[in-house]
Amino acid sequence: MLTGVVAGAVFTSPAVAGTLLIVKNYTGDRLSFGLALERARAMGADVRMVVVGDDTAFAMPKKAGRRGLCGTILVHKIAGALAEAGASLDVIVEKVSAATKGLGTLGLSLSPCSVPGSKPTFQLAADEMELGLGIHGEAGVRRMKMLTADEAVEMMLTHMTDPSNASHLPLSPGASVVLVVNNLGGLSCLELSIMAGAAVRCLERRGISITRVLVGSFMTALEMAGVSLTLMLVDEELLGLIDAKTTAMAWPNVATAPATRMSRAMPPPAGPDAARVQRVLELVSSTLLAMQDRLNELDRQAGDGDCGHTHARAARAIQEWVRAQPPPTAPAQLLSALADLLLEKMGGSSGVLYGLFLTAAAQPLLRSTGLPAWADAMDAGIEAMQRYGGAAPGDRTMLDSLCAAAQALHSLRSPGATLLPVLTNAVQSAEAAAEATKHMEAGAGRASYIRGGCTPLIPPHPINKPLWSS
Ligand SMILES: *[C@@H]1O[C@H](CO)[C@@H](O)[C@H](O)[C@H]1NC(C)=O
Ligand SMILES: *[C@@H]1O[C@H](CO)[C@@H](O)[C@H](O)[C@H]1NC(C)=O
Repeated sequence: MLTGVVAGAVFTSPAVAGTLLIVKNYTGDRLSFGLALERARAMGADVRMVVVGDDTAFAMPKKAGRRGLCGTILVHKIAGALAEAGASLDVIVEKVSAATKGLGTLGLSLSPCSVPGSKPTFQLAADEMELGLGIHGEAGVRRMKMLTADEAVEMMLTHMTDPSNASHLPLSPGASVVLVVNNLGGLSCLELSIMAGAAVRCLERRGISITRVLVGSFMTALEMAGVSLTLMLVDEELLGLIDAKTTAMAWPNVATAPATRMSRAMPPPAGPDAARVQRVLELVSSTLLAMQDRLNELDRQAGDGDCGHTHARAARAIQEWVRAQPPPTAPAQLLSALADLLLEKMGGSSGVLYGLFLTAAAQPLLRSTGLPAWADAMDAGIEAMQRYGGAAPGDRTMLDSLCAAAQALHSLRSPGATLLPVLTNAVQSAEAAAEATKHMEAGAGRASYIRGGCTPLIPPHPINKPLWSS
């Protein structure tokens, strides 16, 4: 009757921006998921599909094409991290599709897989191995005599990167890769680690820069005693997405492993950047906490008198969060994480408004973290609040201050802009704009219900509160 459900918090709708189907390139899968996509679209859902074909086994283009293999897990990770950072479905599809162009996988096995109740799909003698298998028990492209681990890996990488093979992955010295050494199901940890060690040595001999090594059982084929190697060509951005924290239990968190070595690094001590972010967030939080009574007092005159409490709740949540672990230092990830935190912990319309602001502000910072991007971030955040909140500057909401500050931040786009004077100016502009709201009529938000000014067009929310006024 029901095979899946997406739930929001109690009494709230889940935020579903769209759906991405990540499909491994098998005819049956393409057909079934294609059908699901068409039907979901017919019902009005925004659904896209990315087909992954990372197989490098075939020498000649075959009718069946490149199959989807273990490289797909990197595609999941990248798409997931982008979605987590609030990227749009269009951006996710575009980045993920680009990433699959630099992706290659090849499998090698000492045994067929073991399908319960069935005979093996192929037979291998005790001293034979099979190259280029699929993950559903299909036989490979080549059978050969047993080799040592180093020889086997050398042969696999040669096959994967041989330019005369139609499905090869172009790999030249100096390229940066993420390496996945995947257990096809039946290898011991010892055997898997020996293969991983051999793969690292072999790639280093070829002058490849191995940025991360993931070793484990990521995509198995029912007890097959084999291994697959996956290489993905990466740049800083892709690497950041692969490193992005996840709570998925099976994902090895090797994010901080030093490049080129397989050492499973300890979690990092908070770096200087994380410590700085932490100090700034502490300062913002303690400032808000100190203003609690004053904010409540102002709100008693304009609303329901809890503005200080709401912001104190947010401030304490931020304090607890930064004290529990070093905050992310990448700006986009930091803003997205703060958005999640405020949505969850601050609650109410304020939490949603700040969540919207921060989620939208994170977008321009995904592409660049230079000073102009911060001006873009502020504009994007304000734009999102206006779009969904329905207020405009002049309505005596927090937008009056925010827009004044944003205007001042536009100077960051001039070449040679220096941060401090621009920020000082932005703060002064915001304060002046907040002060000026004293003489305005409330046009939106909760204050517009009081003193019977305008007819409110939107449900009450506390953006009218003069947060930034001192
Ligand atoms: C998937 O396989 C088909 C053939 O079945 C092939 O034409 C196509 O290029 C493959 N797609 C990818 C993404 O490799
Ligand atoms: C494909 O790669 C293998 C190396 O594993 C090589 O023997 C073969 O000649 C290559 N090219 C073709 C067209 O098969």
